[in-house]
Amino acid sequence: MKDRIYNFAAGPSMLADEVLDRLYADFYSYQDSGMAVMEMSHRAKDYLAVFSETKDRLRKIMAIGEDYEIFFMHGGATGQFAAVPLNLMKKGKADYIVTGNFAKKAAQEAMKYGEVKIIYDGKDNGYSQIPAIDELHFSRDVDYIHLCSNNTIYGTQWHKYPETKDIPLVADMSSDILSKKINVADFGLIYAGAQKNMGIAGIAVVIIRKDLINQGNPLMPQILSYELMAKNDSMLNTPATYPIYVLGEVLRWIEDKGGLEQIEKDNIRKADLLYDYLDGQTFYKPHARKTDRSLMNVTFTTPDPELDSLFAAQAQENGMANLKGHRLVGGIRASIYNAMPVEGVEKLIEFMDLFAKENA
Ligand SMILES: Cc1ncc(COP(=O)(O)O)c(C=O)c1O
Repeated sequence: MKDRIYNFAAGPSMLADEVLDRLYADFYSYQDSGMAVMEMSHRAKDYLAVFSETKDRLRKIMAIGEDYEIFFMHGGATGQFAAVPLNLMKKGKADYIVTGNFAKKAAQEAMKYGEVKIIYDGKDNGYSQIPAIDELHFSRDVDYIHLCSNNTIYGTQWHKYPETKDIPLVADMSSDILSKKINVADFGLIYAGAQKNMGIAGIAVVIIRKDLINQGNPLMPQILSYELMAKNDSMLNTPATYPIYVLGEVLRWIEDKGGLEQIEKDNIRKADLLYDYLDGQTFYKPHARKTDRSLMNVTFTTPDPELDSLFAAQAQENGMANLKGHRLVGGIRASIYNAMPVEGVEKLIEFMDLFAKENA
């Protein structure tokens, strides 16, 4: 490994060394084309091959059926907070499940375009929980039901999704897509910003059941239109060529590792190490309810906010960066996405133990 440290950032976040090596090898001249990928026209033959291979690889790895379209869109996941209601609201109604800050932002954006019912809001438990499925009472006449599968800030994750029958389930999977196998057919639409498990910032990936693609709201900016994305294969305008290429290299790395089955095993192993340590001591206090803990973002506090800051600063000095919790919740957050090796987690636990002994 070069002069690299373990980067526990929530996103943009760590890329695997193998991926960085590939990007580096291709940097000046992609596969003897004499040109860097970022210099290529999005219509060039070489680039079109990168684009379609990336899409095909994503379809294969996630087992996305032919009844779904894949888009690479601008505007990050936040763009999708608007795109989803603008495209899917035909009756003008949707249910939103608010399990954290991004789920709330998605709901607030949707409220501009239609009638949004918040059927669950976790604010009273400090967003430390995911609702039990039987706690949720869906409306019958809505266009879709929206949830956020992993709450990046609070460190909670849905481990079982509600069955919404004929009402499409829409999920913001920004912080846990590609971290485990999922059944895409359970969802009408999945979207994610790429800057965690899918590479670098600059694209939102949208996976949508084809029958949900329609004209949408006539006032919608064309850049958010799923119909136009489908008609133009995500090339209504210049797509974010480099982030799409990076996604392709990340997908190749996932394949080389043994696909999502292996990735999921590795993620469980890493998270178990960290949570087992947390459960076996009393200095640190985990934030999320045990049953709802995220395998991607592990959140906890020391007994004192000043110690939280000291923890992050000393961890940085010891080669572990970005452990400070989100400004909304404070404390400490260790984001352990796919690219974080188990050695990074082991090193963190060693440091945590030492820090606890020194500061108890
Ligand atoms: C779950 C979730 N949704 C949405 C967003 C916003 O993503 P973007 O910055 O791509 O708009 C984030 C960013 O961290 C996130 O974690």
